[in-house]
Amino acid sequence: MTQLMPPLDDLLVTDEEASNLTYFAFAKSHQAEPALAPTKASVGEMPEVLAGRYRIERLLGAGGMGAVYRARDLLSEQFGDPDPYIALKILSEEFAESPDASALLYSEFALTRRLRHDNVLRLHSFEVDTDCQRAFITMELMRGLTLDKLLCERPLGLPWKELRDIALPLLDALAFAHARGVLHGDMKPSNVMLSEEGVRLFDFGLGQAEEGILPGLPHLSRNRFNAWTPGYAAPELLEGQPLSASADVYGVACVLYELAGGKHPFRRLPSTEARDGHLERELHAPRNLPKHCWPALRTALAFDAADRTITAAQLRDAMGATSSLLQRLRLRA
Ligand SMILES: Nc1ncnc2c1ncn2[C@@H]1O[C@H](COP(=O)(O)OP(=O)(O)OP(=O)(O)O)[C@@H](O)[C@H]1O
Ligand SMILES: [Mg+2]
Repeated sequence: MTQLMPPLDDLLVTDEEASNLTYFAFAKSHQAEPALAPTKASVGEMPEVLAGRYRIERLLGAGGMGAVYRARDLLSEQFGDPDPYIALKILSEEFAESPDASALLYSEFALTRRLRHDNVLRLHSFEVDTDCQRAFITMELMRGLTLDKLLCERPLGLPWKELRDIALPLLDALAFAHARGVLHGDMKPSNVMLSEEGVRLFDFGLGQAEEGILPGLPHLSRNRFNAWTPGYAAPELLEGQPLSASADVYGVACVLYELAGGKHPFRRLPSTEARDGHLERELHAPRNLPKHCWPALRTALAFDAADRTITAAQLRDAMGATSSLLQRLRLRA
């Protein structure tokens, strides 16, 4: 799970800070004044049906700031939709009170919506339940396994054919996001699903748009949400540098390395610790990775961002390329 470093109190803004934040429509429409910072008493318990439409069925997963439920869209059901099931991500009760947290959830929605790609989770809507005053996202229900669960079932990693069928779409989704100016910020096995419909990259909750993209999004003081996942976050992120495409490349490289041999490249240590302990000296090609892919993956795992001279698209191309030996054999045939 992503570690949220600051205590909850740090997220609940002071009056002065609050004036710099964007608020969302938590108030019921008949109220004359919009509720600015929702008060403790205003955030209610989770109802069985949200926004009069989504019946909560069961918990699918809980993360740093909220939870994801499987729900039934009663409206689609009423119109005869044979598959009215959706997933719904909602802030937990404590975080529902923080305007920053709602803004982060909206930012996740806006970033993911920018990405229409077969291998990026599809979102439907951002809504607010006015009774319990909680913001939530509705999205496609993925049926399958996250890569962390897959790794538990396959502790020795995946054979190259299976690995390639995950690596290529995943890298393609990440390269697409980068090309659209969207950074993921939390590449790790539990944020990638191998669903019935293929690979899906999701959870842009720590994502960010590149400068000039989606300029209308609320400006968030992200350094207060110092929420990287230490085993997959590049050293520069743990040292306070801003998120970059190169940091995403480091995270996805850790994921691919782990899938290829069942082991994290640096024993799941925080990357700064792994770097200071010179663990790169022990690094060798994972067992199921073809030789010709290793130089690219090795470069993507560089601790120093200046040495990480490979993009997600280049990594995808390197993993998709056939080895020169195979190429020669094919040419001969
Ligand atoms: N659309 C979905 N369909 C099915 N399951 C989902 C869906 N979205 C999320 N999940 C499940 O819920 C878990 C948590 O989701 P998500 O990563 O979006 O939340 P999070 O609060 O950001 O978690 P974390 O902090 O651990 O990254 C996922 O690992 C997955 O198991
Ligand atoms: Mg997650």
